[in-house]
Amino acid sequence: MRRNDRDALKQRLLARSKDRPRGQRAAPEPGSGNSRLTRFDTLPQYQQITMMREGAERLGLKDPFFRPHDGVAGATSVIEGREVINFASYNYLGLAGDPRVNEAARQALERYGTTVSASRIVSGERPIHRELERSLAQAYGCDDAVAFVSGHATNVSTLGQLLGPKDLIVHDEWIHNSAVVGAQLSGAKRMSFAHNDPEALADLLARHRQDFERVAVVIEGLYSMDGDVPDLRAFVEVKERHQAWLMVDEAHSFGVLGKHGRGLGEYAGVATDEVDIWMGTLSKSLASCGGYIAGCQALVDTLRYLAPGFLYSVGMPPQAAAPALAALTLMQQEPERLERLHHISRYFRDQAHAAGLDTGKSIGAAVVPIITGNSPAAALMSQRLFDDGINVQPIVYPAVPERSARLRFFLSSEHTTDQIDHTIERLKHAHQALGR
Ligand SMILES: Cc1ncc(COP(=O)(O)O)c(C=O)c1O
Repeated sequence: MRRNDRDALKQRLLARSKDRPRGQRAAPEPGSGNSRLTRFDTLPQYQQITMMREGAERLGLKDPFFRPHDGVAGATSVIEGREVINFASYNYLGLAGDPRVNEAARQALERYGTTVSASRIVSGERPIHRELERSLAQAYGCDDAVAFVSGHATNVSTLGQLLGPKDLIVHDEWIHNSAVVGAQLSGAKRMSFAHNDPEALADLLARHRQDFERVAVVIEGLYSMDGDVPDLRAFVEVKERHQAWLMVDEAHSFGVLGKHGRGLGEYAGVATDEVDIWMGTLSKSLASCGGYIAGCQALVDTLRYLAPGFLYSVGMPPQAAAPALAALTLMQQEPERLERLHHISRYFRDQAHAAGLDTGKSIGAAVVPIITGNSPAAALMSQRLFDDGINVQPIVYPAVPERSARLRFFLSSEHTTDQIDHTIERLKHAHQALGR
Protein backbone atom coordinates (compact mmCIF):
# COMPACT_ATOMS: atom_id res chain seq x y z
CA MET A 1 0.00 0.00 0.00
CA ARG A 2 1.39 3.44 -0.93
CA ARG A 3 1.99 5.97 1.84
CA ASN A 4 -0.85 8.31 0.68
CA ASP A 5 -3.30 5.43 0.57
CA ARG A 6 -2.23 4.31 4.04
CA ASP A 7 -2.79 7.80 5.45
CA ALA A 8 -6.19 8.08 3.82
CA LEU A 9 -7.26 4.72 5.26
CA LYS A 10 -6.01 5.74 8.73
CA GLN A 11 -8.02 8.99 8.54
CA ARG A 12 -11.19 7.08 7.57
CA LEU A 13 -10.77 4.55 10.39
CA LEU A 14 -10.09 7.30 12.92
CA ALA A 15 -13.14 9.25 11.80
CA ARG A 16 -15.36 6.16 12.22
CA SER A 17 -13.92 5.16 15.60
CA LYS A 18 -14.51 8.66 17.08
CA ASP A 19 -18.26 7.98 17.45
CA ARG A 20 -17.67 4.63 19.09
CA PRO A 21 -17.28 4.12 22.85
CA ARG A 22 -13.78 2.94 23.82
CA GLY A 23 -13.29 -0.80 23.59
CA GLN A 24 -16.27 -1.38 21.32
CA ARG A 25 -15.54 -2.93 17.95
CA ALA A 26 -17.11 -1.61 14.78
CA ALA A 27 -20.07 -3.62 13.47
CA PRO A 28 -19.42 -4.90 9.97
CA GLU A 29 -21.35 -2.99 7.33
CA PRO A 30 -24.75 -4.67 6.88
CA GLY A 31 -24.75 -6.57 3.63
CA SER A 32 -20.96 -6.54 3.35
CA GLY A 33 -19.42 -9.89 2.38
CA ASN A 34 -18.57 -11.30 5.79
CA SER A 35 -21.25 -9.60 7.94
CA ARG A 36 -23.50 -12.56 7.13
CA LEU A 37 -21.08 -14.70 9.11
CA THR A 38 -20.54 -12.38 12.05
CA ARG A 39 -23.92 -10.77 12.78
CA PHE A 40 -26.09 -12.69 15.26
CA ASP A 41 -29.28 -11.50 13.60
CA THR A 42 -28.37 -13.51 10.50
CA LEU A 43 -28.46 -16.77 12.47
CA PRO A 44 -31.26 -18.98 11.09
CA GLN A 45 -32.30 -19.87 14.65
CA TYR A 46 -32.61 -16.17 15.54
CA GLN A 47 -34.67 -15.61 12.41
CA GLN A 48 -36.99 -18.43 13.48
CA ILE A 49 -37.58 -16.70 16.84
CA THR A 50 -38.31 -13.44 15.00
CA MET A 51 -40.74 -15.22 12.69
CA MET A 52 -42.57 -16.76 15.65
CA ARG A 53 -42.80 -13.36 17.37
CA GLU A 54 -44.15 -11.73 14.22
CA GLY A 55 -46.66 -14.58 13.76
CA ALA A 56 -47.85 -14.14 17.36
CA GLU A 57 -48.15 -10.37 16.88
CA ARG A 58 -50.26 -10.87 13.74
CA LEU A 59 -52.63 -13.06 15.80
CA GLY A 60 -52.74 -10.36 18.48
CA LEU A 61 -51.02 -12.64 21.02
CA LYS A 62 -48.78 -11.60 23.90
CA ASP A 63 -45.56 -13.57 24.35
CA PRO A 64 -46.53 -16.48 26.66
CA PHE A 65 -42.90 -17.16 27.61
CA PHE A 66 -40.83 -15.78 30.50
CA ARG A 67 -43.90 -14.71 32.48
CA PRO A 68 -42.66 -13.27 35.80
CA HIS A 69 -44.08 -14.99 38.91
CA ASP A 70 -44.19 -12.76 41.94
CA GLY A 71 -43.79 -15.47 44.60
CA VAL A 72 -43.92 -19.27 44.85
CA ALA A 73 -45.32 -20.92 41.72
CA GLY A 74 -47.66 -23.50 43.20
CA ALA A 75 -51.23 -24.53 42.36
CA THR A 76 -51.80 -20.80 42.19
CA SER A 77 -49.34 -18.03 41.46
CA VAL A 78 -49.26 -14.25 41.17
CA ILE A 79 -48.31 -13.06 37.70
CA GLU A 80 -48.29 -9.36 36.82
CA GLY A 81 -50.13 -8.59 40.06
CA ARG A 82 -52.97 -11.04 39.37
CA GLU A 83 -53.58 -14.41 41.05
CA VAL A 84 -53.93 -17.23 38.53
CA ILE A 85 -54.49 -20.98 38.75
CA ASN A 86 -51.10 -22.29 37.72
CA PHE A 87 -50.51 -25.38 35.57
CA ALA A 88 -47.09 -24.41 34.25
CA SER A 89 -44.78 -25.53 37.08
CA TYR A 90 -43.45 -28.95 38.07
CA ASN A 91 -44.39 -28.53 41.71
CA TYR A 92 -45.96 -31.99 41.67
CA LEU A 93 -45.94 -32.63 45.42
CA GLY A 94 -46.56 -29.02 46.44
CA LEU A 95 -43.22 -28.94 48.28
CA ALA A 96 -41.72 -25.92 46.51
CA GLY A 97 -42.26 -23.11 48.99
CA ASP A 98 -43.16 -25.46 51.88
CA PRO A 99 -41.90 -23.67 55.04
CA ARG A 100 -39.98 -26.78 56.18
CA VAL A 101 -38.22 -27.06 52.82
CA ASN A 102 -37.43 -23.33 52.91
CA GLU A 103 -36.09 -23.68 56.44
CA ALA A 104 -33.74 -26.49 55.38
CA ALA A 105 -32.38 -24.23 52.63
CA ARG A 106 -32.00 -21.32 55.05
CA GLN A 107 -30.07 -23.38 57.61
CA ALA A 108 -27.72 -24.77 54.95
CA LEU A 109 -27.17 -21.28 53.60
CA GLU A 110 -26.29 -19.90 57.02
CA ARG A 111 -23.97 -22.77 57.84
CA TYR A 112 -22.13 -23.15 54.54
CA GLY A 113 -22.67 -19.88 52.67
CA THR A 114 -23.96 -19.48 49.15
CA THR A 115 -21.40 -21.61 47.28
CA VAL A 116 -18.97 -24.49 47.75
CA SER A 117 -16.57 -22.43 45.64
CA ALA A 118 -15.17 -25.25 43.46
CA SER A 119 -15.61 -28.82 42.30
CA ARG A 120 -16.28 -31.25 45.16
CA ILE A 121 -13.40 -33.49 44.12
CA VAL A 122 -10.94 -30.61 44.25
CA SER A 123 -12.01 -28.47 47.15
CA GLY A 124 -14.04 -30.90 49.23
CA GLU A 125 -17.72 -31.49 49.75
CA ARG A 126 -20.17 -30.66 52.53
CA PRO A 127 -21.90 -33.39 54.59
CA ILE A 128 -25.27 -32.39 53.09
CA HIS A 129 -24.12 -33.60 49.63
CA ARG A 130 -23.52 -37.14 50.83
CA GLU A 131 -26.66 -37.13 53.01
CA LEU A 132 -28.74 -36.29 49.95
CA GLU A 133 -27.00 -38.90 47.80
CA ARG A 134 -27.37 -41.63 50.44
CA SER A 135 -31.07 -40.85 50.81
CA LEU A 136 -31.62 -41.00 47.04
CA ALA A 137 -29.77 -44.34 46.89
CA GLN A 138 -31.88 -45.63 49.76
CA ALA A 139 -35.10 -44.55 48.07
CA TYR A 140 -34.08 -46.59 45.02
CA GLY A 141 -32.58 -49.43 47.05
CA CYS A 142 -29.26 -49.28 45.20
CA ASP A 143 -25.60 -48.92 46.22
CA ASP A 144 -25.09 -45.21 45.78
CA ALA A 145 -26.04 -42.00 43.96
CA VAL A 146 -24.23 -38.89 42.76
CA ALA A 147 -25.80 -35.43 42.51
CA PHE A 148 -25.02 -32.91 39.76
CA VAL A 149 -25.77 -29.17 39.66
CA SER A 150 -28.34 -29.55 36.90
CA GLY A 151 -30.63 -32.26 35.59
CA HIS A 152 -29.74 -31.43 32.01
CA ALA A 153 -26.01 -31.61 32.79
CA THR A 154 -26.57 -34.97 34.49
CA ASN A 155 -27.67 -36.59 31.23
CA VAL A 156 -25.08 -34.78 29.14
CA SER A 157 -22.19 -35.73 31.43
CA THR A 158 -23.32 -39.28 32.15
CA LEU A 159 -23.84 -40.34 28.56
CA GLY A 160 -20.85 -38.27 27.45
CA GLN A 161 -18.62 -40.05 29.98
CA LEU A 162 -19.85 -43.65 29.82
CA LEU A 163 -19.95 -44.15 26.06
CA GLY A 164 -17.54 -43.53 23.21
CA PRO A 165 -17.03 -43.87 19.45
CA LYS A 166 -17.18 -47.70 19.43
CA ASP A 167 -20.56 -47.67 21.20
CA LEU A 168 -24.23 -47.18 20.38
CA ILE A 169 -26.87 -45.08 22.14
CA VAL A 170 -30.45 -45.97 21.27
CA HIS A 171 -33.25 -43.82 22.59
CA ASP A 172 -36.98 -43.33 22.39
CA GLU A 173 -37.78 -40.88 19.58
CA TRP A 174 -39.34 -38.52 22.17
CA ILE A 175 -36.37 -38.53 24.53
CA HIS A 176 -35.46 -35.27 26.24
CA ASN A 177 -32.90 -32.98 24.61
CA SER A 178 -30.38 -33.57 27.43
CA ALA A 179 -29.99 -37.24 26.46
CA VAL A 180 -29.54 -36.31 22.79
CA VAL A 181 -26.86 -33.76 23.66
CA GLY A 182 -25.12 -36.33 25.92
CA ALA A 183 -25.18 -38.88 23.12
CA GLN A 184 -23.68 -36.33 20.73
CA LEU A 185 -20.95 -35.48 23.23
CA SER A 186 -20.04 -39.14 23.69
CA GLY A 187 -19.16 -39.63 20.02
CA ALA A 188 -21.18 -42.88 20.05
CA LYS A 189 -23.48 -43.75 17.16
CA ARG A 190 -27.01 -42.55 17.98
CA MET A 191 -30.25 -44.14 16.79
CA SER A 192 -33.87 -43.73 17.87
CA PHE A 193 -36.84 -46.11 17.94
CA ALA A 194 -40.59 -45.49 17.73
CA HIS A 195 -42.06 -44.02 20.90
CA ASN A 196 -42.71 -46.55 23.69
CA ASP A 197 -42.22 -49.46 21.32
CA PRO A 198 -39.97 -52.20 22.78
CA GLU A 199 -40.44 -54.32 19.67
CA ALA A 200 -39.05 -51.56 17.48
CA LEU A 201 -36.07 -51.41 19.85
CA ALA A 202 -35.61 -55.21 19.66
CA ASP A 203 -35.73 -55.00 15.90
CA LEU A 204 -33.11 -52.27 15.79
CA LEU A 205 -30.79 -54.13 18.19
CA ALA A 206 -31.18 -57.38 16.25
CA ARG A 207 -29.88 -55.55 13.18
CA HIS A 208 -27.14 -53.40 14.73
CA ARG A 209 -26.03 -54.75 18.12
CA GLN A 210 -23.12 -56.76 16.75
CA ASP A 211 -21.50 -53.67 15.18
CA PHE A 212 -20.83 -52.01 18.53
CA GLU A 213 -19.10 -52.63 21.82
CA ARG A 214 -21.31 -51.14 24.53
CA VAL A 215 -24.93 -50.18 24.00
CA ALA A 216 -27.11 -47.89 26.14
CA VAL A 217 -30.88 -47.76 25.75
CA VAL A 218 -32.37 -44.51 27.09
CA ILE A 219 -36.05 -44.06 27.93
CA GLU A 220 -38.06 -41.78 30.23
CA GLY A 221 -40.13 -42.87 33.22
CA LEU A 222 -43.01 -40.51 32.37
CA TYR A 223 -42.89 -38.55 29.13
CA SER A 224 -43.18 -34.88 29.86
CA MET A 225 -44.98 -33.88 26.67
CA ASP A 226 -47.60 -36.63 26.75
CA GLY A 227 -47.80 -37.98 30.29
CA ASP A 228 -47.51 -41.59 29.11
CA VAL A 229 -45.21 -44.34 30.41
CA PRO A 230 -43.13 -47.10 28.84
CA ASP A 231 -43.68 -50.82 29.48
CA LEU A 232 -40.58 -51.15 31.67
CA ARG A 233 -40.78 -54.95 31.98
CA ALA A 234 -40.67 -55.28 28.17
CA PHE A 235 -37.71 -52.88 27.87
CA VAL A 236 -35.79 -54.79 30.55
CA GLU A 237 -36.38 -58.02 28.66
CA VAL A 238 -35.06 -56.53 25.38
CA LYS A 239 -31.97 -54.94 26.91
CA GLU A 240 -31.06 -58.20 28.67
CA ARG A 241 -31.44 -60.20 25.48
CA HIS A 242 -29.10 -57.81 23.67
CA GLN A 243 -26.61 -57.15 26.47
CA ALA A 244 -27.27 -53.46 26.69
CA TRP A 245 -27.53 -50.99 29.56
CA LEU A 246 -30.95 -49.54 30.28
CA MET A 247 -31.05 -45.92 31.50
CA VAL A 248 -34.35 -44.49 32.75
CA ASP A 249 -34.73 -40.71 33.04
CA GLU A 250 -37.08 -40.20 35.98
CA ALA A 251 -37.27 -36.41 35.78
CA HIS A 252 -41.08 -36.58 35.79
CA SER A 253 -41.66 -40.02 37.32
CA PHE A 254 -39.73 -39.94 40.59
CA GLY A 255 -42.07 -38.45 43.18
CA VAL A 256 -45.03 -39.09 40.86
CA LEU A 257 -45.33 -42.78 39.95
CA GLY A 258 -45.80 -45.64 42.39
CA LYS A 259 -47.55 -45.80 45.74
CA HIS A 260 -44.53 -44.28 47.50
CA GLY A 261 -43.38 -42.07 44.63
CA ARG A 262 -40.34 -44.23 43.93
CA GLY A 263 -40.93 -43.91 40.23
CA LEU A 264 -41.33 -46.20 37.25
CA GLY A 265 -39.72 -49.25 38.90
CA GLU A 266 -42.25 -49.18 41.73
CA TYR A 267 -45.12 -48.46 39.31
CA ALA A 268 -44.17 -51.36 37.01
CA GLY A 269 -43.13 -53.82 39.73
CA VAL A 270 -39.58 -54.03 38.34
CA ALA A 271 -36.69 -54.46 40.80
CA THR A 272 -34.18 -51.61 41.06
CA ASP A 273 -31.23 -53.68 39.87
CA GLU A 274 -33.01 -54.68 36.66
CA VAL A 275 -32.32 -51.14 35.42
CA ASP A 276 -28.66 -50.19 35.06
CA ILE A 277 -28.84 -46.39 35.33
CA TRP A 278 -31.53 -44.47 37.20
CA MET A 279 -31.41 -40.78 36.42
CA GLY A 280 -33.60 -38.07 37.90
CA THR A 281 -33.84 -34.36 38.57
CA LEU A 282 -34.18 -32.47 41.83
CA SER A 283 -36.10 -29.65 40.18
CA LYS A 284 -39.56 -31.20 40.03
CA SER A 285 -41.10 -33.24 42.87
CA LEU A 286 -38.01 -32.55 45.00
CA ALA A 287 -38.49 -28.78 44.89
CA SER A 288 -34.89 -27.77 44.22
CA CYS A 289 -32.38 -27.72 41.39
CA GLY A 290 -29.95 -30.38 40.16
CA GLY A 291 -29.92 -33.96 38.96
CA TYR A 292 -28.71 -37.39 40.08
CA ILE A 293 -27.64 -40.81 38.92
CA ALA A 294 -28.38 -43.80 41.15
CA GLY A 295 -27.05 -47.31 40.57
CA CYS A 296 -24.24 -49.69 41.47
CA GLN A 297 -21.04 -48.49 43.15
CA ALA A 298 -18.81 -48.84 40.09
CA LEU A 299 -21.18 -46.69 38.02
CA VAL A 300 -21.45 -43.96 40.66
CA ASP A 301 -17.70 -43.92 41.35
CA THR A 302 -16.92 -43.65 37.64
CA LEU A 303 -19.16 -40.61 37.36
CA ARG A 304 -17.99 -39.07 40.62
CA TYR A 305 -14.36 -39.18 39.49
CA LEU A 306 -14.73 -38.66 35.75
CA ALA A 307 -18.04 -37.17 34.56
CA PRO A 308 -17.09 -33.77 33.11
CA GLY A 309 -20.11 -31.91 34.53
CA PHE A 310 -19.17 -33.19 38.00
CA LEU A 311 -15.38 -33.16 37.91
CA TYR A 312 -14.99 -29.82 36.13
CA SER A 313 -18.00 -28.03 37.59
CA VAL A 314 -18.71 -26.48 40.97
CA GLY A 315 -20.45 -28.69 43.54
CA MET A 316 -24.16 -28.26 44.11
CA PRO A 317 -24.78 -25.31 46.48
CA PRO A 318 -25.77 -26.55 49.96
CA GLN A 319 -28.92 -24.41 49.84
CA ALA A 320 -30.02 -26.54 46.85
CA ALA A 321 -28.96 -29.92 48.32
CA ALA A 322 -30.68 -29.33 51.68
CA PRO A 323 -34.21 -28.56 50.37
CA ALA A 324 -34.03 -31.54 47.99
CA LEU A 325 -33.23 -33.78 50.96
CA ALA A 326 -36.02 -32.17 53.02
CA ALA A 327 -38.50 -32.66 50.16
CA LEU A 328 -37.47 -36.31 49.76
CA THR A 329 -37.98 -36.88 53.49
CA LEU A 330 -41.39 -35.16 53.40
CA MET A 331 -42.43 -37.20 50.37
CA GLN A 332 -41.76 -40.33 52.43
CA GLN A 333 -43.38 -39.01 55.61
CA GLU A 334 -46.50 -37.61 53.95
CA PRO A 335 -47.76 -40.22 51.46
CA GLU A 336 -51.08 -38.36 51.30
CA ARG A 337 -49.38 -35.86 48.97
CA LEU A 338 -48.94 -38.60 46.38
CA GLU A 339 -52.50 -39.80 46.87
CA ARG A 340 -53.77 -36.26 46.28
CA LEU A 341 -51.55 -35.86 43.19
CA HIS A 342 -52.75 -39.18 41.74
CA HIS A 343 -56.37 -38.33 42.45
CA ILE A 344 -56.32 -34.80 41.05
CA SER A 345 -54.37 -35.81 37.92
CA ARG A 346 -56.85 -38.57 37.07
CA TYR A 347 -59.74 -36.24 37.87
CA PHE A 348 -58.39 -33.62 35.46
CA ARG A 349 -57.87 -36.16 32.67
CA ASP A 350 -61.29 -37.77 33.15
CA GLN A 351 -63.12 -34.43 33.27
CA ALA A 352 -61.29 -33.30 30.13
CA HIS A 353 -62.30 -36.52 28.36
CA ALA A 354 -65.88 -36.06 29.44
CA ALA A 355 -65.77 -32.53 27.99
CA GLY A 356 -64.71 -33.97 24.62
CA LEU A 357 -61.11 -32.72 24.84
CA ASP A 358 -58.22 -34.77 23.49
CA THR A 359 -55.78 -35.78 26.26
CA GLY A 360 -53.65 -37.94 23.98
CA LYS A 361 -52.02 -40.92 25.66
CA SER A 362 -51.77 -39.44 29.15
CA ILE A 363 -52.24 -41.98 31.94
CA GLY A 364 -53.41 -39.12 34.18
CA ALA A 365 -50.32 -38.76 36.36
CA ALA A 366 -49.12 -35.18 36.83
CA VAL A 367 -48.77 -34.40 33.09
CA VAL A 368 -51.87 -34.08 30.92
CA PRO A 369 -51.79 -32.51 27.45
CA ILE A 370 -54.81 -31.08 25.69
CA ILE A 371 -54.07 -31.59 22.02
CA THR A 372 -55.22 -28.65 19.92
CA GLY A 373 -53.95 -29.89 16.56
CA ASN A 374 -52.04 -26.80 15.45
CA SER A 375 -49.74 -24.19 16.93
CA PRO A 376 -51.90 -21.03 16.50
CA ALA A 377 -54.84 -22.81 18.22
CA ALA A 378 -52.59 -23.76 21.15
CA ALA A 379 -51.25 -20.20 21.44
CA LEU A 380 -54.72 -18.63 21.17
CA MET A 381 -56.23 -20.97 23.77
CA SER A 382 -53.33 -20.35 26.14
CA GLN A 383 -53.87 -16.60 25.87
CA ARG A 384 -57.62 -16.86 26.32
CA LEU A 385 -57.12 -19.01 29.43
CA PHE A 386 -54.54 -16.59 30.79
CA ASP A 387 -57.05 -13.76 30.36
CA ASP A 388 -59.46 -15.99 32.35
CA GLY A 389 -56.89 -16.35 35.18
CA ILE A 390 -55.43 -19.75 34.20
CA ASN A 391 -51.72 -20.11 33.44
CA VAL A 392 -50.91 -22.98 31.06
CA GLN A 393 -48.17 -23.09 28.43
CA PRO A 394 -48.76 -23.80 24.77
CA ILE A 395 -46.35 -26.34 23.27
CA VAL A 396 -45.96 -25.51 19.62
CA TYR A 397 -43.93 -26.62 16.62
CA PRO A 398 -40.96 -27.38 16.54
CA ALA A 399 -41.08 -28.67 20.15
CA VAL A 400 -43.76 -31.13 18.95
CA PRO A 401 -45.01 -31.96 15.42
CA GLU A 402 -47.46 -29.28 14.21
CA ARG A 403 -50.47 -31.62 14.24
CA SER A 404 -49.87 -32.45 17.90
CA ALA A 405 -49.47 -28.87 19.19
CA ARG A 406 -51.02 -28.69 22.62
CA LEU A 407 -51.57 -27.07 25.96
CA ARG A 408 -49.59 -28.89 28.59
CA PHE A 409 -51.03 -29.10 32.11
CA PHE A 410 -48.81 -29.96 35.07
CA LEU A 411 -50.89 -30.98 38.07
CA SER A 412 -49.93 -30.53 41.69
CA SER A 413 -51.13 -32.29 44.85
CA GLU A 414 -52.33 -28.82 45.89
CA HIS A 415 -54.83 -28.29 43.06
CA THR A 416 -58.46 -28.61 44.15
CA THR A 417 -61.37 -30.19 42.30
CA ASP A 418 -63.04 -26.74 42.20
CA GLN A 419 -60.00 -25.33 40.39
CA ILE A 420 -60.09 -28.24 37.93
CA ASP A 421 -63.85 -27.88 37.30
CA HIS A 422 -63.42 -24.17 36.63
CA THR A 423 -60.43 -24.82 34.33
CA ILE A 424 -62.26 -27.49 32.29
CA GLU A 425 -65.24 -25.17 31.90
CA ARG A 426 -62.97 -22.32 30.62
CA LEU A 427 -61.06 -24.78 28.40
CA LYS A 428 -64.32 -25.91 26.78
CA HIS A 429 -65.22 -22.30 26.23
CA ALA A 430 -61.82 -21.46 24.69
CA HIS A 431 -62.07 -24.55 22.48
CA GLN A 432 -65.54 -23.61 21.25
CA ALA A 433 -64.42 -20.04 20.58
CA LEU A 434 -62.02 -21.51 18.00
CA GLY A 435 -65.02 -23.04 16.25
CA ARG A 436 -64.34 -26.61 17.41
C1 LIG B 1 -37.00 -35.78 30.87
C2 LIG B 1 -36.13 -34.68 31.36
N1 LIG B 1 -34.85 -34.91 31.62
C3 LIG B 1 -34.02 -33.95 32.06
C4 LIG B 1 -34.47 -32.67 32.26
C5 LIG B 1 -33.54 -31.59 32.75
O1 LIG B 1 -33.79 -31.35 34.09
P1 LIG B 1 -33.53 -29.92 34.79
O2 LIG B 1 -34.59 -29.00 34.27
O3 LIG B 1 -33.71 -30.22 36.22
O4 LIG B 1 -32.17 -29.49 34.40
C6 LIG B 1 -35.81 -32.38 32.02
C7 LIG B 1 -36.32 -31.00 32.24
O5 LIG B 1 -37.45 -30.71 32.31
C8 LIG B 1 -36.67 -33.40 31.55
O6 LIG B 1 -37.95 -33.15 31.28
